[in-house]
Amino acid sequence: MAFYNKTFYEKNLQEYLAPDSYDLENKWAADDDFYLELVKGCEGEILDIACGTGRLTRAIAKLGKQVTGLDVMPQMLERAKQLADNEGLNIEWLHLDCRNFELDKTFDWILMTSHGFQHLLTEQDQIDFFTTIKKHLTKNGKLAFETRNLNNKTYGTHKEMKYKRSILNEKNEVIKIFLSTEYDEQTALDQVKFKRVNEATGVVSFSEIYLKYTTQVELNRLLTSCGYEIVHQFGNWKKEAVQVNSPELITICGKDDS
Ligand SMILES: C[S@@+](CC[C@H](N)C(=O)[O-])C[C@H]1O[C@@H](n2cnc3c(N)ncnc32)[C@H](O)[C@@H]1O
Repeated sequence: MAFYNKTFYEKNLQEYLAPDSYDLENKWAADDDFYLELVKGCEGEILDIACGTGRLTRAIAKLGKQVTGLDVMPQMLERAKQLADNEGLNIEWLHLDCRNFELDKTFDWILMTSHGFQHLLTEQDQIDFFTTIKKHLTKNGKLAFETRNLNNKTYGTHKEMKYKRSILNEKNEVIKIFLSTEYDEQTALDQVKFKRVNEATGVVSFSEIYLKYTTQVELNRLLTSCGYEIVHQFGNWKKEAVQVNSPELITICGKDDS
């Protein structure tokens, strides 16, 4: 992609400059239950990649597990640390880019939740991510992550901004959220534009984000070529098999050392 560089990647994360608002819009859901269940029996260390404000990281720590949260946005990490400190949780927080980091330890589980994988906007980003993660898995360690299924995507244009939902902010004011999307087949990037209207004050704010789509065939080819063995793949949080129109591609994989 001609326009793709470090600045573009960083600018694409503007949604994460306001971690308090992020938490108001993103609450505990079925995906968190799924990942928490996965690591319940884990006796080793867990790494929560792109942990954001640490909603899941903190829940894992509360199970008495040894967990580390890693994120590239200092604003998100700062709030994560604050919330964990308030609850007296012992979690290591790392300010790193998941595409390229080096730690001198390995993990039994590495998780990347809430469609964090779709922030990796090119195939090279994805290869760098898989290569880096592989170096940080124990022999039988597993990587678990999900990406939305392109076949289940609703296509739109920026000409039509649709009402999505309303939330209450910290002052109990109603914020109406509208969005539009436009998908580019060439880059497999979906540009999502948000408009947030504060009903009490009339203040309107705009933001946008690009998200990458990867088909199951592409994903599995990439994982195999990066030396992974796919252990499970589910199409939704009820652990049902992937169907053509499943909402998610949820993958659990490990190192293929055969
Ligand atoms: C949708 S949020 C998910 C946050 C958290 N996992 C949750 O469940 O709420 C995506 C997160 O990915 C992080 N992120 C994006 N690119 C990253 C990268 N290259 N390395 C590490 N974190 C990244 C963002 O800063 C953001 O916190």
